[in-house]
Amino acid sequence: MKLIIDDAHIEQIKELYEYYPVDGVTTNPTILAKSGRNPYEVLHEIRDFIGADAELHVQVIARTATGMIADAHRIVKELGDNTYVKIPSIQEGFKAMRILKNEGISITATAIYTPLQAFLAAKSGASYAAPYINRIDNMGYDGVEIARHIHDIFKNNNFKAEVLAASFKNSQQLLELAEYGIGASTASPDVIFALVKNEAITSAINQFISDFEGLVGNGKTMADC
Ligand code: G3P
Repeated sequence: MKLIIDDAHIEQIKELYEYYPVDGVTTNPTILAKSGRNPYEVLHEIRDFIGADAELHVQVIARTATGMIADAHRIVKELGDNTYVKIPSIQEGFKAMRILKNEGISITATAIYTPLQAFLAAKSGASYAAPYINRIDNMGYDGVEIARHIHDIFKNNNFKAEVLAASFKNSQQLLELAEYGIGASTASPDVIFALVKNEAITSAINQFISDFEGLVGNGKTMADC
């Protein structure tokens, strides 16, 4: 399972890239709005940092297929071929996906709440389908279960599409999807940092260091004893 950063703050993206095995960046209009800056300025900054080959996912805004296609062309022109254009999985979106797929543009079908949306998106040429795990949970359904269904639908139909699960609020949601072997998960920096924030881990490390310093002296490590 790929692990992708769902954020547009360059400092947090840089920190995550330094410490964690991450595979790219996803954004959405709300994430870009939080920056308060020109969207392309922010996206270019991210693209320049992650490099031309890394996955960057950027969403269209238009409501019609024609408008979505125009948005997609501008997004790819600005940010390069390894940019996945996020298209909402609605009637106009399926039309746009088919046309963009034929042009060779990579598509992430987004705003997915049901397996049938993902099925139609995969048939329309999407490379990824993004179910919103936590938002589905908040509606009283099981987001992880729906993502698993979508994964099974893709495998059982020999679709090339993969699940790119989004909207996580806790480690358990992400763990269950890693166990199932879905294609990718995208999570906010807070959720990724929290994956290993655990008192038991900190306490174990502190005990090892304290025991060793008792043997060789304070501040000494294997490099200098
Ligand atoms: O891009 C969609 C997804 O990332 C939304 O996440 O946390 O706003 O539900 P969230």
